[in-house]
Amino acid sequence: MTPWTDRAGRFAPLKAATFAGTLVPGLLLAWWWAQDALGPRPLTEAIHETGDWAIRFLAMSLAVTPLRRIAQWPKLINVRRMLGLAALSYALLHLLLYVADQKWELGKVASEIALRLYLTIGFVALLGLVVLGSTSTDAMIRRLGKNWNRLHRIVYGIAALAAVHFFMQTKADVFEATIVAGLTALLMIYRLAHRFSLPLSSPAVLVGLAVAGAVATAAAELLWYGLATGIPVSRVFAANWHLALQIRPMWWVLAVGLAAAVLGWIRSRAGEGKGRPAGLEGKTGRKAARAMA
Ligand code: HEM
Repeated sequence: MTPWTDRAGRFAPLKAATFAGTLVPGLLLAWWWAQDALGPRPLTEAIHETGDWAIRFLAMSLAVTPLRRIAQWPKLINVRRMLGLAALSYALLHLLLYVADQKWELGKVASEIALRLYLTIGFVALLGLVVLGSTSTDAMIRRLGKNWNRLHRIVYGIAALAAVHFFMQTKADVFEATIVAGLTALLMIYRLAHRFSLPLSSPAVLVGLAVAGAVATAAAELLWYGLATGIPVSRVFAANWHLALQIRPMWWVLAVGLAAAVLGWIRSRAGEGKGRPAGLEGKTGRKAARAMA
């Protein structure tokens, strides 16, 4: 099976597009590097770019399961492993570039990782990704059986560690780190909701979860400023309401959550017309419908 075909060897457009999408940031980076377009400190810039893409692909892989339920799009599962492996690949490249930045002095790299907390946290997150990546082959999935699901739940812990690593290395403006942490929190909230049997196909439930995600984002931001800076948390909280100055992270997370609710509403309307959940056609669909029930 190639990254652009399904198990039967047929061309799979969704897999092919996802595969191409995972390659784009790496190819662009290589191109900018070759063109000397990465600024005065190309290695530092490349470390940041690869870190950003590692965490973005990790968030996308976490988004697959809730999106599959909300959009009633079972085939989305076919790209989850690819997105996870993309996160692992960019994280490994991120480490490699860091080692290069340290002039390949492995002793220094090891001591830096041991002594600087944000690097230790990044390292643990990377180890977790390696464990997940190495147990993602078909043979390992079969061998581990039910334990595979249990093991792969650590992906939420890995995402939380990666978000903390992102926050801690940010010197001044934690805007993007807060958005990433907030979206990760929203995805965890979807997971919890499913665990407690709240239907992710219900737009009303999704609106409630979007608000919960926004509150979690504001809380993460307050916690960070409260712990890491001297800025009074009341000022940070008040900034959320000055929309003319800047649209703060909690509003972006709310917007993403509400967009998911609208998508859920559209899909449930489409499903009503057919007398069954939309998007659940064919054999895969019937299987997925049973899994989603
Ligand atoms: C051994 C493991 C790791 C090491 C040594 C490491 C090292 C670094 C370094 C040196 C920076 C830049 C700090 C600075 O410029 O002051 C950074 C930033 C970052 N890292 Fe890591 N990292 C590791 C693992 C990870 C993992 C597993 C992820 C995500 C899954 C990640 C995501 C990020 C992100 C998002 C940034 C910020 C990028 C930005 O500011 O645009 N890192 N990391």
